[in-house]
Amino acid sequence: MADKTILFISRTDQVTPLFSHFKEYGLEVIMSESLSSALKVIEQKNPVLIFSQVRLPGYRIEDLLQKKTELNFDIDVIAFTDQGSASEARRILELGARDYWLTPLIWDKIRVILPHKKSRTKRGPATDSNLRFEIIGEHPSIKRVLALARRVANSKATVLISGESGTGKEMFARYLHYHSARAKMPFVAINCAALPEHLLESELFGHEKGAFTGAISRKLGKFELANGGTILLDEISEMDLSLQAKLLRVLQENEIDRVGGTETIKVDVRVLATTNRNIEECVQKKEFRQDLYYRLNVIPLKLPPLRERGSDILLLAEYFMRKFSQEYNVTLSGFSETARKWLMSYEWPGNVRELQNLMERAVLLAGKGKIEVEHFLLEGEEWPDGLSLEEYGEPEEKKDVIEKNDEVLPLHEMEKRMILKSLQKTSGNRTQAAELLGISVRTLRNKLNEYRKQGLVIP
Ligand SMILES: Nc1ncnc2c1ncn2[C@@H]1O[C@H](COP(=O)(O)OP(=O)(O)OP(=O)(O)O)[C@@H](O)[C@H]1O
Ligand SMILES: [Mg+2]
Repeated sequence: MADKTILFISRTDQVTPLFSHFKEYGLEVIMSESLSSALKVIEQKNPVLIFSQVRLPGYRIEDLLQKKTELNFDIDVIAFTDQGSASEARRILELGARDYWLTPLIWDKIRVILPHKKSRTKRGPATDSNLRFEIIGEHPSIKRVLALARRVANSKATVLISGESGTGKEMFARYLHYHSARAKMPFVAINCAALPEHLLESELFGHEKGAFTGAISRKLGKFELANGGTILLDEISEMDLSLQAKLLRVLQENEIDRVGGTETIKVDVRVLATTNRNIEECVQKKEFRQDLYYRLNVIPLKLPPLRERGSDILLLAEYFMRKFSQEYNVTLSGFSETARKWLMSYEWPGNVRELQNLMERAVLLAGKGKIEVEHFLLEGEEWPDGLSLEEYGEPEEKKDVIEKNDEVLPLHEMEKRMILKSLQKTSGNRTQAAELLGISVRTLRNKLNEYRKQGLVIP
Protein backbone atom coordinates (compact mmCIF):
# COMPACT_ATOMS: atom_id res chain seq x y z
CA MET A 1 0.00 0.00 0.00
CA ALA A 2 1.26 3.46 -0.81
CA ASP A 3 2.49 5.68 2.03
CA LYS A 4 3.06 2.62 4.17
CA THR A 5 6.32 1.23 2.94
CA ILE A 6 9.80 1.65 4.34
CA LEU A 7 12.67 0.57 2.13
CA PHE A 8 15.81 -0.85 3.68
CA ILE A 9 18.89 -1.32 1.56
CA SER A 10 20.79 -3.43 3.97
CA ARG A 11 21.68 -6.86 5.23
CA THR A 12 18.55 -8.35 6.71
CA ASP A 13 20.04 -9.23 10.08
CA GLN A 14 20.49 -5.56 10.95
CA VAL A 15 16.83 -4.87 10.46
CA THR A 16 15.08 -7.99 11.74
CA PRO A 17 14.99 -6.78 15.35
CA LEU A 18 13.02 -3.75 14.12
CA PHE A 19 10.42 -5.57 12.04
CA SER A 20 7.88 -5.97 14.81
CA HIS A 21 8.13 -2.27 15.70
CA PHE A 22 7.45 -1.22 12.13
CA LYS A 23 4.62 -3.66 11.85
CA GLU A 24 3.02 -2.37 15.02
CA TYR A 25 3.39 1.10 13.62
CA GLY A 26 1.47 0.06 10.52
CA LEU A 27 4.44 0.15 8.18
CA GLU A 28 5.66 -2.51 5.81
CA VAL A 29 9.38 -3.08 5.47
CA ILE A 30 10.88 -4.09 2.14
CA MET A 31 14.49 -5.19 1.88
CA SER A 32 16.83 -4.71 -1.05
CA GLU A 33 20.48 -5.53 -1.43
CA SER A 34 21.18 -3.92 -4.78
CA LEU A 35 20.58 -0.64 -6.53
CA SER A 36 18.45 -2.15 -9.26
CA SER A 37 16.07 -3.91 -6.90
CA ALA A 38 15.90 -0.78 -4.72
CA LEU A 39 14.92 1.34 -7.73
CA LYS A 40 12.20 -1.14 -8.59
CA VAL A 41 10.76 -0.85 -5.08
CA ILE A 42 10.95 2.95 -5.24
CA GLU A 43 9.08 2.96 -8.51
CA GLN A 44 6.42 0.46 -7.52
CA LYS A 45 5.88 1.15 -3.84
CA ASN A 46 6.75 4.80 -3.45
CA PRO A 47 8.19 4.27 0.06
CA VAL A 48 7.88 6.97 2.69
CA LEU A 49 11.46 6.62 3.79
CA ILE A 50 14.63 4.84 2.74
CA PHE A 51 17.28 3.52 5.08
CA SER A 52 20.44 2.59 3.30
CA GLN A 53 23.67 1.07 4.39
CA VAL A 54 26.60 3.10 3.07
CA ARG A 55 28.29 0.02 1.60
CA LEU A 56 27.14 -3.45 0.68
CA PRO A 57 28.86 -5.92 -1.60
CA GLY A 58 28.18 -4.50 -5.06
CA TYR A 59 26.34 -1.45 -3.74
CA ARG A 60 27.35 2.10 -2.83
CA ILE A 61 24.95 4.65 -1.38
CA GLU A 62 26.49 7.27 -3.64
CA ASP A 63 24.83 5.59 -6.62
CA LEU A 64 21.45 5.69 -4.94
CA LEU A 65 21.85 9.38 -4.06
CA GLN A 66 22.87 10.13 -7.61
CA LYS A 67 19.72 8.41 -8.89
CA LYS A 68 17.71 10.38 -6.35
CA THR A 69 18.97 13.59 -7.91
CA GLU A 70 18.64 12.34 -11.48
CA LEU A 71 15.16 10.91 -11.09
CA ASN A 72 14.15 13.65 -8.68
CA PHE A 73 12.34 11.37 -6.27
CA ASP A 74 11.36 13.12 -3.12
CA ILE A 75 12.03 10.43 -0.53
CA ASP A 76 14.34 10.97 2.41
CA VAL A 77 17.34 8.69 2.60
CA ILE A 78 18.93 7.87 5.94
CA ALA A 79 22.43 6.51 5.55
CA PHE A 80 23.84 4.17 8.14
CA THR A 81 27.09 2.37 8.63
CA ASP A 82 28.98 0.26 11.14
CA GLN A 83 32.11 2.31 10.92
CA GLY A 84 31.60 5.90 10.08
CA SER A 85 33.79 8.90 9.83
CA ALA A 86 33.05 12.59 9.97
CA SER A 87 34.38 13.13 6.47
CA GLU A 88 32.23 10.36 5.04
CA ALA A 89 29.20 11.77 6.89
CA ARG A 90 29.77 15.19 5.41
CA ARG A 91 30.21 13.82 1.91
CA ILE A 92 27.06 11.70 2.06
CA LEU A 93 24.95 14.49 3.51
CA GLU A 94 26.19 16.76 0.74
CA LEU A 95 25.06 14.20 -1.79
CA GLY A 96 21.54 14.56 -0.45
CA ALA A 97 21.08 12.04 2.36
CA ARG A 98 18.90 13.35 5.12
CA ASP A 99 20.97 11.90 7.92
CA TYR A 100 23.94 9.69 8.65
CA TRP A 101 23.71 7.19 11.48
CA LEU A 102 25.90 4.64 13.11
CA THR A 103 24.59 1.14 13.79
CA PRO A 104 22.95 -0.38 15.71
CA LEU A 105 19.70 1.10 14.52
CA ILE A 106 17.58 2.04 17.50
CA TRP A 107 13.84 2.09 17.31
CA ASP A 108 13.42 5.19 19.48
CA LYS A 109 15.58 7.12 17.10
CA ILE A 110 13.78 5.79 14.03
CA ARG A 111 10.36 6.47 15.43
CA VAL A 112 11.08 10.16 15.76
CA ILE A 113 11.49 10.57 12.03
CA LEU A 114 8.70 8.30 10.85
CA PRO A 115 5.65 9.88 9.28
CA HIS A 116 3.02 10.51 11.93
CA LYS A 117 1.22 7.37 12.92
CA LYS A 118 -2.40 7.18 11.86
CA SER A 119 -4.60 7.98 14.82
CA ARG A 120 -6.76 5.18 16.12
CA THR A 121 -9.68 7.57 16.55
CA LYS A 122 -12.75 6.12 14.92
CA ARG A 123 -13.09 8.83 12.37
CA GLY A 124 -12.89 12.54 11.88
CA PRO A 125 -11.14 14.25 9.08
CA ALA A 126 -8.94 16.11 11.48
CA THR A 127 -7.40 12.95 12.80
CA ASP A 128 -5.95 11.99 9.46
CA SER A 129 -2.27 12.46 9.05
CA ASN A 130 -2.63 13.98 5.62
CA LEU A 131 -4.43 16.80 3.98
CA ARG A 132 -7.68 15.07 3.35
CA PHE A 133 -9.60 17.09 5.91
CA GLU A 134 -11.68 20.03 4.98
CA ILE A 135 -12.36 23.06 7.09
CA ILE A 136 -15.89 24.07 6.28
CA GLY A 137 -16.83 27.71 6.68
CA GLU A 138 -18.02 30.68 4.68
CA HIS A 139 -18.86 33.10 7.45
CA PRO A 140 -16.55 36.15 7.61
CA SER A 141 -15.65 35.35 11.22
CA ILE A 142 -14.18 31.98 10.28
CA LYS A 143 -12.81 33.06 6.91
CA ARG A 144 -10.75 35.65 8.70
CA VAL A 145 -9.22 32.96 10.90
CA LEU A 146 -8.59 30.70 7.91
CA ALA A 147 -6.86 33.48 6.03
CA LEU A 148 -4.61 34.14 8.99
CA ALA A 149 -3.92 30.43 9.43
CA ARG A 150 -2.93 30.17 5.78
CA ARG A 151 -0.57 33.10 6.12
CA VAL A 152 1.22 31.80 9.20
CA ALA A 153 1.14 28.06 8.47
CA ASN A 154 4.53 27.90 6.89
CA SER A 155 6.49 29.69 9.55
CA LYS A 156 7.90 28.59 12.85
CA ALA A 157 5.78 31.10 14.72
CA THR A 158 4.12 29.91 17.88
CA VAL A 159 0.36 30.02 17.56
CA LEU A 160 -2.14 30.14 20.40
CA ILE A 161 -5.49 28.81 19.24
CA SER A 162 -8.37 29.72 21.49
CA GLY A 163 -12.05 29.00 21.34
CA GLU A 164 -14.84 27.21 23.13
CA SER A 165 -14.90 23.46 23.30
CA GLY A 166 -15.51 21.82 19.93
CA THR A 167 -14.84 24.91 17.79
CA GLY A 168 -12.09 23.20 15.81
CA LYS A 169 -8.92 24.14 17.66
CA GLU A 170 -7.18 20.85 17.06
CA MET A 171 -8.33 20.83 13.49
CA PHE A 172 -6.70 24.20 12.92
CA ALA A 173 -3.55 23.03 14.66
CA ARG A 174 -3.32 20.13 12.20
CA TYR A 175 -4.07 22.46 9.35
CA LEU A 176 -1.08 24.60 10.35
CA HIS A 177 1.18 21.59 10.58
CA TYR A 178 0.12 19.98 7.30
CA HIS A 179 0.43 23.27 5.44
CA SER A 180 3.96 23.85 6.62
CA ALA A 181 7.32 22.58 5.46
CA ARG A 182 7.16 20.26 8.47
CA ALA A 183 4.18 18.35 7.08
CA LYS A 184 6.15 15.16 6.59
CA MET A 185 7.59 15.29 10.07
CA PRO A 186 5.69 14.26 13.19
CA PHE A 187 2.71 16.06 14.61
CA VAL A 188 2.54 15.24 18.29
CA ALA A 189 -0.31 16.35 20.53
CA ILE A 190 -0.41 16.27 24.29
CA ASN A 191 -3.23 17.28 26.57
CA CYS A 192 -1.85 19.33 29.43
CA ALA A 193 -5.02 18.91 31.49
CA ALA A 194 -4.94 15.15 31.45
CA LEU A 195 -1.91 14.47 33.65
CA PRO A 196 -0.61 15.55 37.05
CA GLU A 197 2.40 17.85 36.97
CA HIS A 198 5.28 15.40 37.40
CA LEU A 199 3.88 12.96 34.84
CA LEU A 200 3.24 15.76 32.39
CA GLU A 201 6.82 16.91 32.77
CA SER A 202 8.21 13.50 31.89
CA GLU A 203 5.69 13.13 29.05
CA LEU A 204 6.86 16.44 27.62
CA PHE A 205 10.58 16.21 28.21
CA GLY A 206 11.20 12.50 28.76
CA HIS A 207 13.11 10.93 31.60
CA GLU A 208 16.23 8.95 32.22
CA LYS A 209 16.23 5.48 33.63
CA GLY A 210 15.87 5.67 37.40
CA ALA A 211 14.85 9.34 37.43
CA PHE A 212 12.03 8.45 39.78
CA THR A 213 10.34 5.35 41.14
CA GLY A 214 8.82 3.59 38.21
CA ALA A 215 11.19 5.07 35.65
CA ILE A 216 12.52 1.67 34.67
CA SER A 217 13.93 2.75 31.36
CA ARG A 218 14.74 5.87 29.46
CA LYS A 219 11.73 7.46 27.85
CA LEU A 220 11.72 10.04 25.12
CA GLY A 221 9.48 13.01 25.70
CA LYS A 222 6.99 14.44 23.26
CA PHE A 223 9.33 17.29 22.39
CA GLU A 224 11.95 14.81 21.23
CA LEU A 225 9.36 12.74 19.42
CA ALA A 226 8.14 15.85 17.64
CA ASN A 227 11.65 16.83 16.62
CA GLY A 228 11.62 18.43 13.20
CA GLY A 229 7.84 18.65 13.37
CA THR A 230 5.14 20.25 15.46
CA ILE A 231 3.95 19.80 19.01
CA LEU A 232 0.44 20.71 20.06
CA LEU A 233 0.06 21.60 23.72
CA ASP A 234 -3.62 21.14 24.24
CA GLU A 235 -5.35 23.03 27.07
CA ILE A 236 -2.21 24.88 27.95
CA SER A 237 -3.98 27.00 30.56
CA GLU A 238 -4.18 23.92 32.79
CA MET A 239 -0.44 23.60 33.04
CA ASP A 240 1.04 24.03 36.48
CA LEU A 241 2.98 27.25 37.15
CA SER A 242 6.30 25.55 37.80
CA LEU A 243 6.05 23.54 34.61
CA GLN A 244 5.14 26.72 32.77
CA ALA A 245 8.53 28.06 33.80
CA LYS A 246 10.26 25.01 32.32
CA LEU A 247 8.26 25.27 29.14
CA LEU A 248 9.20 28.91 28.77
CA ARG A 249 12.85 27.94 28.92
CA VAL A 250 12.35 25.34 26.20
CA LEU A 251 10.69 27.90 23.97
CA GLN A 252 13.49 30.37 24.51
CA GLU A 253 16.44 28.03 24.29
CA ASN A 254 15.16 25.32 21.95
CA GLU A 255 16.53 22.70 24.23
CA ILE A 256 15.10 20.34 26.78
CA ASP A 257 16.25 18.54 29.90
CA ARG A 258 15.02 15.00 30.39
CA VAL A 259 13.82 14.44 33.95
CA GLY A 260 16.79 13.06 35.84
CA GLY A 261 19.09 13.78 32.91
CA THR A 262 22.34 15.67 32.97
CA GLU A 263 22.67 16.85 29.40
CA THR A 264 20.44 19.24 27.55
CA ILE A 265 19.09 18.12 24.21
CA LYS A 266 18.61 20.43 21.26
CA VAL A 267 15.22 20.21 19.63
CA ASP A 268 13.70 21.87 16.62
CA VAL A 269 9.97 21.88 17.26
CA ARG A 270 7.23 24.25 16.28
CA VAL A 271 4.91 24.88 19.20
CA LEU A 272 1.17 25.29 18.90
CA ALA A 273 -1.08 25.61 21.93
CA THR A 274 -4.79 25.64 22.51
CA THR A 275 -7.00 26.90 25.28
CA ASN A 276 -10.72 27.00 25.81
CA ARG A 277 -10.39 29.31 28.79
CA ASN A 278 -9.93 33.02 28.68
CA ILE A 279 -6.19 32.95 29.13
CA GLU A 280 -5.85 36.70 29.60
CA GLU A 281 -8.01 36.26 32.66
CA CYS A 282 -5.78 33.46 33.89
CA VAL A 283 -2.83 35.82 33.51
CA GLN A 284 -4.59 38.49 35.52
CA LYS A 285 -5.37 35.98 38.23
CA LYS A 286 -1.71 34.92 38.20
CA GLU A 287 -2.62 31.40 37.25
CA PHE A 288 -0.74 31.70 34.02
CA ARG A 289 2.67 33.28 33.54
CA GLN A 290 2.51 36.48 31.62
CA ASP A 291 5.90 35.96 29.95
CA LEU A 292 4.83 32.51 28.73
CA TYR A 293 1.56 33.95 27.50
CA TYR A 294 3.38 36.53 25.41
CA ARG A 295 5.77 33.91 24.11
CA LEU A 296 2.91 31.58 23.08
CA ASN A 297 0.58 34.22 21.80
CA VAL A 298 2.87 35.35 18.97
CA ILE A 299 0.02 34.63 16.56
CA PRO A 300 -3.42 34.40 18.19
CA LEU A 301 -6.06 32.41 16.33
CA LYS A 302 -9.45 32.98 17.90
CA LEU A 303 -12.13 30.56 16.79
CA PRO A 304 -15.66 31.96 16.98
CA PRO A 305 -18.35 29.83 18.62
CA LEU A 306 -20.61 28.05 16.16
CA ARG A 307 -23.68 30.08 17.15
CA GLU A 308 -21.90 33.19 15.84
CA ARG A 309 -21.21 31.71 12.43
CA GLY A 310 -24.66 32.29 10.96
CA SER A 311 -25.58 30.02 8.08
CA ASP A 312 -22.32 28.08 8.46
CA ILE A 313 -24.40 25.97 10.84
CA LEU A 314 -26.45 24.73 7.90
CA LEU A 315 -23.40 24.41 5.71
CA LEU A 316 -21.73 22.21 8.30
CA ALA A 317 -24.92 20.27 8.97
CA GLU A 318 -25.21 19.48 5.26
CA TYR A 319 -21.55 18.55 5.09
CA PHE A 320 -21.90 16.13 8.00
CA MET A 321 -25.14 14.78 6.57
CA ARG A 322 -23.39 13.90 3.31
CA LYS A 323 -20.42 12.49 5.15
CA PHE A 324 -22.42 10.23 7.44
CA SER A 325 -24.88 9.26 4.72
CA GLN A 326 -21.93 7.97 2.77
CA GLU A 327 -20.46 6.28 5.78
CA TYR A 328 -23.70 4.52 6.70
CA ASN A 329 -24.74 4.04 3.13
CA VAL A 330 -28.09 5.78 3.34
CA THR A 331 -29.70 8.33 1.03
CA LEU A 332 -31.16 11.44 2.56
CA SER A 333 -32.72 14.39 0.81
CA GLY A 334 -31.85 17.20 3.20
CA PHE A 335 -33.64 18.80 6.10
CA SER A 336 -37.23 19.75 6.71
CA GLU A 337 -37.88 23.45 7.12
CA THR A 338 -38.48 22.96 10.85
CA ALA A 339 -35.25 21.06 11.25
CA ARG A 340 -33.41 23.94 9.59
CA LYS A 341 -35.03 26.42 11.90
CA TRP A 342 -34.14 24.31 14.87
CA LEU A 343 -30.50 24.04 13.77
CA MET A 344 -30.29 27.79 13.35
CA SER A 345 -31.83 28.65 16.70
CA TYR A 346 -30.03 26.13 18.89
CA GLU A 347 -27.21 27.56 21.03
CA TRP A 348 -24.59 24.88 20.25
CA PRO A 349 -22.69 24.88 23.55
CA GLY A 350 -20.59 22.00 22.22
CA ASN A 351 -20.05 23.79 18.90
CA VAL A 352 -18.99 21.87 15.79
CA ARG A 353 -18.31 18.65 17.65
CA GLU A 354 -21.84 18.68 19.03
CA LEU A 355 -23.27 19.35 15.59
CA GLN A 356 -21.20 16.54 14.15
CA ASN A 357 -22.39 14.05 16.79
CA LEU A 358 -25.95 15.19 16.41
CA MET A 359 -25.81 14.74 12.65
CA GLU A 360 -24.40 11.27 12.92
CA ARG A 361 -27.29 10.27 15.12
CA ALA A 362 -29.87 12.06 12.97
CA VAL A 363 -28.63 10.34 9.83
CA LEU A 364 -28.98 6.98 11.53
CA LEU A 365 -32.40 7.74 12.97
CA ALA A 366 -33.78 9.17 9.75
CA GLY A 367 -32.38 6.46 7.50
CA LYS A 368 -34.06 7.96 4.46
CA GLY A 369 -36.10 10.94 3.30
CA LYS A 370 -35.61 14.21 5.10
CA ILE A 371 -34.03 14.83 8.44
CA GLU A 372 -36.73 16.02 10.82
CA VAL A 373 -36.39 17.92 14.03
CA GLU A 374 -37.22 14.88 16.13
CA HIS A 375 -34.19 13.08 14.75
CA PHE A 376 -32.13 15.50 16.77
CA LEU A 377 -33.49 14.44 20.12
CA LEU A 378 -33.20 11.30 22.12
CA GLU A 379 -35.38 9.88 24.81
CA GLY A 380 -35.35 11.93 27.95
CA GLU A 381 -33.71 14.89 26.27
CA GLU A 382 -35.20 18.29 26.80
CA TRP A 383 -35.82 20.70 24.04
CA PRO A 384 -33.04 23.22 24.23
CA ASP A 385 -33.44 26.30 26.35
CA GLY A 386 -36.93 25.40 27.44
CA LEU A 387 -38.29 25.89 23.96
CA SER A 388 -41.19 23.65 23.23
CA LEU A 389 -42.06 21.71 20.14
CA GLU A 390 -44.85 24.14 19.38
CA GLU A 391 -42.44 27.01 19.01
CA TYR A 392 -40.78 25.22 16.17
CA GLY A 393 -43.93 23.70 14.88
CA GLU A 394 -44.21 20.01 14.13
CA PRO A 395 -42.48 18.60 11.10
CA GLU A 396 -44.62 19.36 8.06
CA GLU A 397 -45.62 15.77 7.49
CA LYS A 398 -47.13 15.63 10.93
CA LYS A 399 -48.98 18.91 11.06
CA ASP A 400 -52.27 17.11 10.85
CA VAL A 401 -51.72 15.46 14.19
CA ILE A 402 -50.69 18.46 16.21
CA GLU A 403 -52.58 18.70 19.41
CA LYS A 404 -53.34 22.34 20.03
CA ASN A 405 -53.65 23.13 23.70
CA ASP A 406 -56.90 21.71 24.94
CA GLU A 407 -58.40 21.06 21.57
CA VAL A 408 -60.09 17.69 21.32
CA LEU A 409 -58.77 15.50 18.53
CA PRO A 410 -60.31 12.48 16.87
CA LEU A 411 -59.16 9.32 18.62
CA HIS A 412 -57.36 7.92 15.59
CA GLU A 413 -55.30 11.10 15.41
CA MET A 414 -54.45 10.91 19.08
CA GLU A 415 -53.41 7.33 18.49
CA LYS A 416 -51.18 8.33 15.60
CA ARG A 417 -49.62 11.07 17.65
CA MET A 418 -48.88 8.75 20.56
CA ILE A 419 -47.38 6.17 18.25
CA LEU A 420 -45.05 8.73 16.69
CA LYS A 421 -44.16 10.05 20.09
CA SER A 422 -43.29 6.58 21.31
CA LEU A 423 -40.99 6.12 18.34
CA GLN A 424 -39.37 9.44 19.02
CA LYS A 425 -38.81 8.46 22.62
CA THR A 426 -37.30 5.11 21.74
CA SER A 427 -35.23 6.45 18.85
CA GLY A 428 -37.27 4.40 16.45
CA ASN A 429 -36.98 1.11 18.34
CA ARG A 430 -40.19 -0.76 17.41
CA THR A 431 -40.07 -3.26 20.25
CA GLN A 432 -39.60 -0.65 22.95
CA ALA A 433 -42.19 1.64 21.37
CA ALA A 434 -44.76 -1.15 21.29
CA GLU A 435 -44.02 -1.88 24.92
CA LEU A 436 -44.60 1.76 25.87
CA LEU A 437 -47.89 1.76 24.01
CA GLY A 438 -49.00 -1.53 25.44
CA ILE A 439 -49.58 -3.07 22.02
CA SER A 440 -47.86 -5.84 20.08
CA VAL A 441 -45.03 -5.08 17.70
CA ARG A 442 -47.16 -6.54 14.96
CA THR A 443 -49.97 -4.08 15.63
CA LEU A 444 -47.46 -1.25 15.70
CA ARG A 445 -46.03 -2.29 12.35
CA ASN A 446 -49.49 -2.46 10.81
CA LYS A 447 -50.31 1.02 12.04
CA LEU A 448 -47.03 2.36 10.72
CA ASN A 449 -47.66 0.80 7.32
CA GLU A 450 -51.00 2.54 7.27
CA TYR A 451 -49.40 5.90 8.08
CA ARG A 452 -46.80 5.35 5.42
CA LYS A 453 -49.52 4.85 2.85
CA GLN A 454 -50.90 8.21 3.95
CA GLY A 455 -47.53 9.71 3.03
CA LEU A 456 -46.07 10.02 6.49
CA VAL A 457 -42.32 9.62 6.88
CA ILE A 458 -41.68 7.19 9.69
CA PRO A 459 -38.30 7.15 11.37
N1 LIG B 1 -14.93 24.09 10.29
C1 LIG B 1 -15.01 22.75 10.41
N2 LIG B 1 -15.26 21.99 9.32
C2 LIG B 1 -15.37 20.65 9.41
N3 LIG B 1 -15.21 19.98 10.55
C3 LIG B 1 -14.95 20.67 11.68
C4 LIG B 1 -14.83 22.09 11.65
N4 LIG B 1 -14.55 22.51 12.91
C5 LIG B 1 -14.52 21.41 13.67
N5 LIG B 1 -14.74 20.30 12.94
C6 LIG B 1 -14.83 18.93 13.46
O1 LIG B 1 -15.40 19.00 14.76
C7 LIG B 1 -14.74 18.14 15.67
C8 LIG B 1 -14.21 18.93 16.84
O2 LIG B 1 -13.11 19.71 16.42
P1 LIG B 1 -11.77 19.83 17.30
O3 LIG B 1 -11.45 18.55 17.96
O4 LIG B 1 -10.73 20.44 16.44
O5 LIG B 1 -12.28 20.87 18.39
P2 LIG B 1 -11.54 21.47 19.66
O6 LIG B 1 -11.76 22.94 19.63
O7 LIG B 1 -10.14 20.99 19.70
O8 LIG B 1 -12.41 20.84 20.83
P3 LIG B 1 -12.02 20.68 22.41
O9 LIG B 1 -11.96 22.04 22.99
O10 LIG B 1 -13.18 19.90 22.95
O11 LIG B 1 -10.74 19.94 22.46
C9 LIG B 1 -13.65 17.44 14.88
O12 LIG B 1 -14.11 16.17 14.50
C10 LIG B 1 -13.45 18.33 13.68
O13 LIG B 1 -13.06 17.57 12.58
MG1 LIG C 1 -9.19 19.74 21.18
